[in-house]
Amino acid sequence: DVTARINPSILSADFVNMERDLNRIQTADYVHVDVMDNHFVPNLTFGPQMVGRVQDVSPIPLDVHLMISDVDRWGPGYAELGAFSVTFHVEAATDPVAVARAIRDRGARAGLALKPGTPVEPYLELLPEFDQVLVMTVEPGFGGQSFMPETMPKLRLLREQVRRLGVDTWLQVDGGIALDTIAIAAEAGADTFVAGSAVYGADDPERAIAGLREAATS
Ligand code: DX5
Ligand code: ZN
Repeated sequence: DVTARINPSILSADFVNMERDLNRIQTADYVHVDVMDNHFVPNLTFGPQMVGRVQDVSPIPLDVHLMISDVDRWGPGYAELGAFSVTFHVEAATDPVAVARAIRDRGARAGLALKPGTPVEPYLELLPEFDQVLVMTVEPGFGGQSFMPETMPKLRLLREQVRRLGVDTWLQVDGGIALDTIAIAAEAGADTFVAGSAVYGADDPERAIAGLREAATS
């Protein structure tokens, strides 16, 4: 009933050839930008200055994934940079609904992310407040990890709730998504797929995107 969105993660791109690597994924739906602060996760990537430049030069809109502490304070600023969506971790938010509203007020879609060990039940009633829910399929922090199938029951619950409420919340998965795992996530209810190493680790990123798209819809 939904088409698969494929969002390559530039965490697996070459950071000193970022513009070139953005232009290697022109058939993607959105560019996934992993913001890490070396506090919420044990890794460090980009801040607002870099995200703003990526926004300036990217031919496709940005899907920003914040893996940072204190998103109540720092999250809404990423929406002001012009991102298509800003997704933050519920574990890092004091008032997730207020953060989502601040992101929407600044013109971006608001996403809620859940680490693998975070239950989804407390948030099912809040679905209308979010344009996207990201079910992490690895522990956040690094690319190239293995897909965790034990997270799939959360997607099933979310898909059921989306249907029940009649909302259009996108359901995203991130971590270990490749040709052999994407169909598992699609079957469980995901419609939006982040892939880092599976796209940038391939000789031909555009072909990798096409392959993932097909594997998700077949
Ligand atoms: C991990 C990041 C992911 C990462 C996925 O914390 O949120 O977006 O880039 O990389 P792969 O697809 O290689 O698992
Ligand atoms: Zn991510």
